[in-house]
Amino acid sequence: MSRPPAASTDAAVRSTCPTELDPQRLPAHVAVIMDGNGRWAESRGLPRVMGHRAGVETLKSTLRLCSDWGISALTAYAFSTENWSRPGDEVNFLMTLFERVLQKELKALEAEQVRIRFLGDLNGLPHKLQELIADATQRTEANSGIHLNVCTNYGGRHELVRAARRLAEQAAAGQLDPESIDENRLAGELFTAGEQDPDLLIRTSGEHRISNFLLWQLAYAEIHVTEVFWPDFNAQALIQALKDYQSRIRRFGGLDPITP
Ligand code: IPE
Ligand code: IPE
Ligand code: MG
Repeated sequence: MSRPPAASTDAAVRSTCPTELDPQRLPAHVAVIMDGNGRWAESRGLPRVMGHRAGVETLKSTLRLCSDWGISALTAYAFSTENWSRPGDEVNFLMTLFERVLQKELKALEAEQVRIRFLGDLNGLPHKLQELIADATQRTEANSGIHLNVCTNYGGRHELVRAARRLAEQAAAGQLDPESIDENRLAGELFTAGEQDPDLLIRTSGEHRISNFLLWQLAYAEIHVTEVFWPDFNAQALIQALKDYQSRIRRFGGLDPITP
């Protein structure tokens, strides 16, 4: 990723965690539903797909800020199993966009030590995109930096059905005792196996729903909804989300911690 000139608000806060945030209490894993690209474009009299193009820039800057501030993992919802129902032109534009972005950004991702993975039913994607994904995954798998998980042809229900089927296959083959299936075992069959659950879910564009995203993994995530359309989600909007997160008391079903 080539860095823009250091003149923007984003540049001013880059590299160090902003002072209004407690660096000790940042979420380790942030998940984001990157919504509102189409409305962002339409509000400017542009074709919807221009919003998707602008949204890529937002993902790049958000990844960089998360990495710079010490967040360990960013999981972004790029294309859902339900998004195939959109007009063919928009779907084709998105698939081509994913291919172009991967080709263009891979070197920078490698240089910045990003470990990229794609979560979802990858077999359903165009063949060329599948090849680029396999290459990017393999070339960055040993990287030591932030984990970037891009959910592509991803659906939470599909992921759970797939996990159930994989466990059933192991049981049917006599490799797994059904009695030994517990939460860890099931989580180990999800696309996110090995990644800790998101601490914070951000959804842009004001929709208060999770749209089949990470149904299992979001069990105890704090949820931040912002009215901002994804292409306008900048450093200030990320700081707002993180401040909101830091204002929450996470109980996990227990009681408030006793303060002395
Ligand atoms: C999110 O933006 C990106 C994808 C779902 C691919 P949208 O395209 O859903 O934008 P809106 O919600 O129509 O504004
Ligand atoms: C969720 O956004 C999927 C992605 C951001 C990739 P949608 O725009 O598809 O969600 P709905 O249809 O508003 O629930
Ligand atoms: Mg949408």
